[in-house]
Amino acid sequence: MNNLTGIVLSAGAGTRMKSKLPKVLHKVLGRTMVDHVIDVLDELDASKKVVVYGHGKDMVHSSLESRNVRFALQAEQKGTGHAVMVAKEHIGDDDNVLILYGDTPLIRSSSIKEFCDEHERQGNDLSILTTIMENPFGYGRIIREEDGRVTGIVEQKDGSQEQLLIKEINSGIYLVNGRLLKDSLELIENNNNQGEYYLTDIVKILSGQGKKVGCHILEDPNEVFGVNTRKHLSIASQMLQERVCDALMENGVTILNPNNVYIEKNVLIGNDTIVCPGVFITGDTEIGSECYIGVNSRIEDSKIMDHVEVNNSTVLESKIDSYTKVGPYAYLRPKSNVGKNTKIGDFVEIKNSNIGDGTKISHLAYVGDGDVGKDVNIGCGVVFVNYDGSSKSRTVVGDNSFIGCNVNLVAPVEVQENAYVAAGSTITKTVPKDSLGIARERQTNIQGWVTRRKND
Ligand code: UD1
Ligand code: CA
Repeated sequence: MNNLTGIVLSAGAGTRMKSKLPKVLHKVLGRTMVDHVIDVLDELDASKKVVVYGHGKDMVHSSLESRNVRFALQAEQKGTGHAVMVAKEHIGDDDNVLILYGDTPLIRSSSIKEFCDEHERQGNDLSILTTIMENPFGYGRIIREEDGRVTGIVEQKDGSQEQLLIKEINSGIYLVNGRLLKDSLELIENNNNQGEYYLTDIVKILSGQGKKVGCHILEDPNEVFGVNTRKHLSIASQMLQERVCDALMENGVTILNPNNVYIEKNVLIGNDTIVCPGVFITGDTEIGSECYIGVNSRIEDSKIMDHVEVNNSTVLESKIDSYTKVGPYAYLRPKSNVGKNTKIGDFVEIKNSNIGDGTKISHLAYVGDGDVGKDVNIGCGVVFVNYDGSSKSRTVVGDNSFIGCNVNLVAPVEVQENAYVAAGSTITKTVPKDSLGIARERQTNIQGWVTRRKND
């Protein structure tokens, strides 16, 4: 839709959250509620995005810095009508103004798109997104004439007994011409039971002026679920999680127990990948096809190619190439770049390192700041000694080399290709290619020592 201006009302305190954070900064599936709403405006290509803020204004401002939004300050919360009024300078006469709430994070852009299309089809001056609720308590009720024309919205606190029986409710989302919005806001008053300037009053005003007011009924009332409490926050998270899992399963991902995973909405997973219970996948993570993500794995901002197995392991800001097996109990810290067909076994920690194709680090090793080549074997208990107490240095291990068990590689140091390092060595100098590096005391046996000691 052209000239789409989105206004997101986010000034409320959210007292019932009992929090230092303003309500709209609470997160649903890893993303603030207001971010979810702004995502919708981005998906609709809105030409302007305005956030009305008040409570916790500095926090709201800094959390939205990167989102290309304009801000309108509502210092005192005098109602939803007043909230839109403070954004007036951002509203052009020919704008199509879409009003959304910062505490309603489940609204889908596809629904808003249908709402906008319907607005244009009906040729409305004002459209209201409504829905049918079995229990409409707390919401504004839609008042229609016998011919179906909408003439007003009555709030819970102001409604008559008869009006409160109506199940069609106001979602609080509207689409309205900019000029008409600004003009009608001038006319609203606060003579109601809450002493607030109700945005809903523009419905009565515009329909009274003979303007065309229409509704679009939203099929899924959950989309306009508003968050007021921590309990609501958990319900919203659960609903969004269900949506994310449904979409993944729709695309061919097996999720063994969708009620026991945490997968954020930007995560991509290829088909025929299996996701086990207790898995936690966040940020901009991308996982390929035919992978196996085993129980209790945590994967954050990482890229995992096809046919990879990650079992009971943590992978942060790292890359894992195809056919590699990780875990159980491996820890890949940021900037680990693991090649194809490698093995990173139990209790292996890798940090800021490159691991070449076909390399095996099967158990109990620390690889920090390393450049490990292809087809290398790193034995049990190997430590890349990368820190001297003040600075970090790198260790290079060439292709086809073999590092025996319990070796310390004291960086900066290099083991060249095709070299061996004997078990138990502490290596501080280059091991040239094709050679054996051995750096430990030779074993001596003292005959009869034990017997003599016992007789003393
Ligand atoms: C509003 C609607 C009601 C609708 C319901 C849907 C009015 C008068 N009523 O009621 O018809 O069914 O939403 O959820 O509009 N806000 C501000 N500044 C203010 C007041 C509110 O920014 O001065 C923000 C709040 O932070 C919140 C949103 O607007 O994000 C809704 O305000 P709220 O007071 O919760 O409205 P409701 O009483 O729920
Ligand atoms: Ca509300």
